[in-house]
Amino acid sequence: MEAHCKQTFHRARPCRTLMSHQHKIDNVQLHDLPNFATALITNMPASLVIGLVGTLGAGKTTLVQSIAESLGIDASDVTSPTFTLLQSHQTKALRDDTNDDLPHVLHHLDAYRLADEDEFLELGVDELFEESGSWTLIEWADRVEAVMPPGALWIRIEIDDDNDARELILSTRSAKVAQGFLGL
Ligand SMILES: Nc1ncnc2c1ncn2[C@@H]1O[C@H](COP(=O)(O)OP(=O)(O)OP(=O)(O)O)[C@@H](O)[C@H]1O
Ligand SMILES: [Mg+2]
Repeated sequence: MEAHCKQTFHRARPCRTLMSHQHKIDNVQLHDLPNFATALITNMPASLVIGLVGTLGAGKTTLVQSIAESLGIDASDVTSPTFTLLQSHQTKALRDDTNDDLPHVLHHLDAYRLADEDEFLELGVDELFEESGSWTLIEWADRVEAVMPPGALWIRIEIDDDNDARELILSTRSAKVAQGFLGL
């Protein structure tokens, strides 16, 4: 894995914070995902919304499964939330009542089949966004970007030419979340 850090200046969206922080990780293979997931959990706040972006088969669900596993959730319980739209899992930190620095709950949503942002809001996502001690991971979050919280962490997954690795492009407008990039 090779990491680069840069900051970009977005003029197109003056309604939100102007500065967007970005962090790219090249050549992430399947076997790198557990380490990446653990680094993310260790370095990011315990309350976080993650928007996952990438074409069909980019690896969004696989990344959610890896993060879930690093939180002590059985990865086989994490499937694309096609019918239920929202799946919530208790993490090891909640079950063992141990670490307040780690998320206690992981919420998993998939916006692919939603008609519009209203349908997304009807799922009660505003409450999830406010919840402390939980991570909310949303596949196809670019489809509901207008109602995503400004402090979200975005992870764009690009498929490498030979399809055996991915490039991860992380971005956020939150200085606190961007601080976590330093540990990745
Ligand atoms: N970092 C990676 N390197 C190589 N292959 C990967 C990587 N991440 C995921 N894959 C593979 O890509 C395939 C598709 O993964 P996945 O189902 O997670 O994609 P998705 O983005 O959730 O797709 P969809 O848009 O259909 O929900 C799987 O076979 C998975 O093993
Ligand atoms: Mg998926």
